[in-house]
Amino acid sequence: MLSRPDVAVVGAGPVGLAIAWRLAARGFRVAVHDPAPGSGASHVAAGMLAPVAEAYFGEHELTGLLTASAARWPAFAAELTTVTGVDIGYRTEGTLMVGLTADDLAEARRLWAYQQGIGLPVTPLRPSALRDREPALAPRVRGGAFAATDHQVDPRRLVPALREAAERAGATLVPTAVRSLSDVDAGVTVVAAGCGAAALTGLPVRPVKGQLLRLRAPDGVAPGFRHVIRGYADGEHVYLVPRPDGEVVVGATVEERADTRVGAGAVLRLLRAAVDLLPELAEYDLVETLAGLRPGTPDNAPILGPLPGRPGVLAATGHHRHGIVLTPVTADLIADLVSTGTADPMLAPFAPARFPAAGTTEPASRTKPAGTTEPAGTAVDGRRGRSASEEEHTWN
Ligand code: GLY
Repeated sequence: MLSRPDVAVVGAGPVGLAIAWRLAARGFRVAVHDPAPGSGASHVAAGMLAPVAEAYFGEHELTGLLTASAARWPAFAAELTTVTGVDIGYRTEGTLMVGLTADDLAEARRLWAYQQGIGLPVTPLRPSALRDREPALAPRVRGGAFAATDHQVDPRRLVPALREAAERAGATLVPTAVRSLSDVDAGVTVVAAGCGAAALTGLPVRPVKGQLLRLRAPDGVAPGFRHVIRGYADGEHVYLVPRPDGEVVVGATVEERADTRVGAGAVLRLLRAAVDLLPELAEYDLVETLAGLRPGTPDNAPILGPLPGRPGVLAATGHHRHGIVLTPVTADLIADLVSTGTADPMLAPFAPARFPAAGTTEPASRTKPAGTTEPAGTAVDGRRGRSASEEEHTWN
């Protein structure tokens, strides 16, 4: 068992594990607390690395961080594969964004125009060019655009690889849930617990439900399309992520709910949109339906950096729809912060302090384990004074 670690990371999802890897590789003694590593949002995630397709109106700073992290992905993936020998399913065919009907295309074109206007690489395609790239698309699809820099990775391969890399670098996995930060004894504590961060810190992280399906091509062949498809289909927004082993991930709903029930209506809507865009999917096996909880924040951006009034406690949470793509930049920036004591200017827009009451007191609920990526399931605004042992944490 590890003697008092330099750094405790609460949460062994991709963000927590990547931070642990980076810090352990720099010689820090690191403990990662999680009773079920990789069992949270990343188990459900499709793995799109989408700085362009996920660039939305009014999220300029988030888009900058997405772009910066996506640019780190090639080297991050190569390093992880070199260190572990694990194929993490990183693929660079790019993403086709398509509209099924004239109305869908009109909606999509507004967003593409915005994305182009802020300098993102979006290439509009005529229907014939679209079909040249992806012949399996339905003839009804009215038009689309290409985002060459939007790639994909397989989160179910990524998380075990990150765990392996972190452990090889010397990090220790502690298979217990953290119910209070006062239970953690370390020089620095990094809260990377997804939705569980709310109960630990009082930060305004809330669960945002996503329902999603996995299909499989019959006979183990690869899907008949190779790009990630982001579709607008009769008003539904859907994404289709093909994997070489025949899997296709179809997602996802976005619901302000905290349950993980899978509803027939959601499955119906996702399947209808998917099959309308790619008719061959009707012949695929439906192998998994599931729901996960994204750690959402009031401004849809992650919460990264020191908690005000909580010396030695850092947040790396609230990644909402972007946990996988933001893993490399989050790990680098948090590891630099721990190592140097100085925050990179890139962190400034994402500081916990932008939420005035954040971290200044301890939340009321300690009943839900929060060393996991499971949802807190509690109100995010109940708080009370922090314990003496938490006062003892010092910032480097
Ligand atoms: N990143 C896609 C989603 O959250 O559904």
